[in-house]
Amino acid sequence: MESKINQLNEKLSKAYLGGGDKRIAKQHGNKKLTARERVDYLLDEGSFEEIGALVTHRTKDFGMADQQFYGDGVVTGYGTVHDRLVYVFAQDFTVFGGSLSETHAEKICKIMDLAVKVGAPLIGLNDSGGARIQEGVRSLGGYADIFYRNVQASGVIPQISAIMGPCAGGAVYSPAMTDFTLMVENTSYMFVTGPNVVKTVTNETVTSEELGGASTHASKSGVAHKTSANDIACLEDIKTLLSYLPQNNTEAPKTLPFELKDEVRAQLENIIPDNANKPYDMHDVISGIIDTDSFYEIHKDHAENIIVGFARLGGRSIGIVANQPMFLAGVLDVNSSKKAARFVRFCDAFNIPLLVLEDVPGFLPGTDQEWNGIIVHGAKLLYAFSEATVPRVTLITRKAYGGAYDVMNSKHIGADMNFAWPSAEIAVMGAKGAAEIIFRKEIKEAENHEAKWKEKEAEYAEKFANPYSATERGFIDEVILPQDTRRKLIKAFAMLQDKQVDGPKRKHGNIPL
Ligand code: HXC
Repeated sequence: MESKINQLNEKLSKAYLGGGDKRIAKQHGNKKLTARERVDYLLDEGSFEEIGALVTHRTKDFGMADQQFYGDGVVTGYGTVHDRLVYVFAQDFTVFGGSLSETHAEKICKIMDLAVKVGAPLIGLNDSGGARIQEGVRSLGGYADIFYRNVQASGVIPQISAIMGPCAGGAVYSPAMTDFTLMVENTSYMFVTGPNVVKTVTNETVTSEELGGASTHASKSGVAHKTSANDIACLEDIKTLLSYLPQNNTEAPKTLPFELKDEVRAQLENIIPDNANKPYDMHDVISGIIDTDSFYEIHKDHAENIIVGFARLGGRSIGIVANQPMFLAGVLDVNSSKKAARFVRFCDAFNIPLLVLEDVPGFLPGTDQEWNGIIVHGAKLLYAFSEATVPRVTLITRKAYGGAYDVMNSKHIGADMNFAWPSAEIAVMGAKGAAEIIFRKEIKEAENHEAKWKEKEAEYAEKFANPYSATERGFIDEVILPQDTRRKLIKAFAMLQDKQVDGPKRKHGNIPL
């Protein structure tokens, strides 16, 4: 019996050590953690239970029979984060570059299946060169098995991916199908094909960082939802993100204890500038409304003309979608529409109520936008809001012009409560442009064109550059003072907490992808 225990201990300690020491040395230079250190840091102390520690690959080709490492390059199992169950896999770059073999895939699929059956989040710590080249189609099949499960799990359990090393091929497609992708700055890359292949095929010279580094994907492509300075910061970010989410789609997110007290926030009175064309930072509105320091921004550096992220309001987890007048005057364009639409759909899938803060002059005009499909991409956001059944509240802080008024969670597409500040302007377009179109003849015929234009602009502004005609129609439920906003919103979300909507029976809608 004792010899059997010794044998098992020996195997487990080999599994713990992983495969190639030279890689560990390299990782220390980059201040990267090992796969096991990552799992240990992510989970509550002592909560990790490993599954499949003694699995080895089954390949005999290319001398692989002599290179067996327990665990086969991935640590899998379950544990808790803040006392809540999660499933986790962490790829070990020291074993064949963390590449995915048939058995490596089987281990991941096993915990994915458990996560869906039990209803708890799946966290993937990715550090992998993609399909294990020595295994050919078996590793491709392994990836497809994971992709299929990513889709089956989508909208059922939260799936979070961290990219913690150079990831290529299938190692980037699976994260792309999960809900959130976090990247570690300077040590992680994501590309379908690396710089060498790019050089061969297109003769382009590009570094790994430029091609698929964290800042590239956080700003240009939008593939990364968040970047973190190092492994530890990334794992902390995952823990914080989890705190806003429910365990699965049948649950509500955890609510923190809260009692309504003095919720007046005088600082909100001074945010909107006197001049309607002057920008202001919508982050100031957000922080004036939500529970202190509770904003967790997603896609911060991508499509900055719209802000999305999680926050707490009266202890309740909410998703915020807000136009940002500081960038492109807060217009809707291709990227901001896609960014917001995906966030809205995530919140809706996981019972997270939505707060929309609106200051939008319309859609961005121009050939670039039209040729890149603003029609279909803008439609994504319209579709996402229209199909969302979670509690939905809108606050118009300033401009709500044109189609963007409809799109940004208007009453007409199913919002539950619509508020406006007295500074709101709800119209088909800005007063200047509107006057030019509808009073063109009068302006042309006037002795002083400029003066006539100004007069007509003022006339139009008087009629529409306010929230009152929309409120008279019931499109806005109430015009509220900025300082009362926090209290009004807390009460609105509390009132809506048991909202239930049964949509029409169908297989699924056809969002304009
Ligand atoms: C087997 C691999 C591997 C792989 C890396 N290694 N990738 N082994 N299969 N896919 C091994 C290397 O041989 C090396 O072993 C060790 O891991 C470290 O790799 P390096 O190249 O030295 O590391 P680095 O310079 O940091 O470069 C990392 C890398 C690069 C960018 C990931 O290794 C790379 O480009 N790998 C191949 C990527 C790829 O084309 N994968 C297949 C994609 S196809 P030694 O013994 O020397 O330490 C795919 C299909 C999925 O995934 C379908 C998608 C829809």
